[in-house]
Amino acid sequence: MENSGSNPLEKRLQERLEKILFTREEICSRIADMGEAITNEYSGQPLTVVTILQGGALFMADLIREIHLPLKADSVSVESYDGTESTGNVTFLQNRMPKLDGRHVILLDDILDTGRTLSAIRRRFLTECSPLSVKIAVLLSKQIERAESVEADYVGFEVGNEFVVGYGLDYNGEYRNLPLIGVLKPEFITVRILFFSLLRDITGQEEMEIQLPEQTLSISQLLDNLFTRYEGLKEWDQKLLVAVNCEYASRNEIVQSGDEVAIMPPVQGG
Ligand code: IMP
Ligand code: MG
Repeated sequence: MENSGSNPLEKRLQERLEKILFTREEICSRIADMGEAITNEYSGQPLTVVTILQGGALFMADLIREIHLPLKADSVSVESYDGTESTGNVTFLQNRMPKLDGRHVILLDDILDTGRTLSAIRRRFLTECSPLSVKIAVLLSKQIERAESVEADYVGFEVGNEFVVGYGLDYNGEYRNLPLIGVLKPEFITVRILFFSLLRDITGQEEMEIQLPEQTLSISQLLDNLFTRYEGLKEWDQKLLVAVNCEYASRNEIVQSGDEVAIMPPVQGG
């Protein structure tokens, strides 16, 4: 068997990291501690562990093997849209909810960020599934102000407000299979910009990728950035229509790494 980190794909992915936050060994050892704490707390109780796909899949696989109790395992699959709407929005990608009545539940995710995902799922479990209790376990917890009041009962590691990948965490669907957790180099964190109609003539292109100087930036900062590259765009300034991931966005909305931003001239005629 090859050593982890020495296979070509893993090496290529790791070269895109600015730094490694937690190695595979550190993650495994921390998960063993979490499993021990859960084993002690739930001994003799009916326990169901529910993970959130896709990100929580690896954490689930390793954590339940460190819980030395009879348990049931289940999953939910959700899609969250953020950045484009201040309220956030969590859609369930399944009709069937897990069967949780009469059971203590531990809900797992890879990371607690704004808290919208975990809070929406917990609320739905409590209102629809009659569990005895719902606790939350996350591998990572971001040290930021939450959009929803939710905290985890079990936390693997605290991280700062930076975009992390690996061990289930993705950027644009990739990097989930890295056995460690790290921070991507900024040159690999980009937003894709699509130009429409006569804006293609002004900029000379249909699409481009730009690097984010920070983790996030507002539409107006993004436009300012484009105005310095393409002077001809500036005269349209306030009239430009902007959509982030196919939804119209106002100037103070925030774009994040991985977003697709469409820029269109104002609708003509009428
Ligand atoms: P929340 O609803 O804002 O708490 O976000 C939770 C979801 O956002 C997680 O399930 C992750 O999929 C994703 N997420 C948040 N921060 C990161 C990150 O730094 N890297 C990768 N995914 C993240
Ligand atoms: Mg996720």
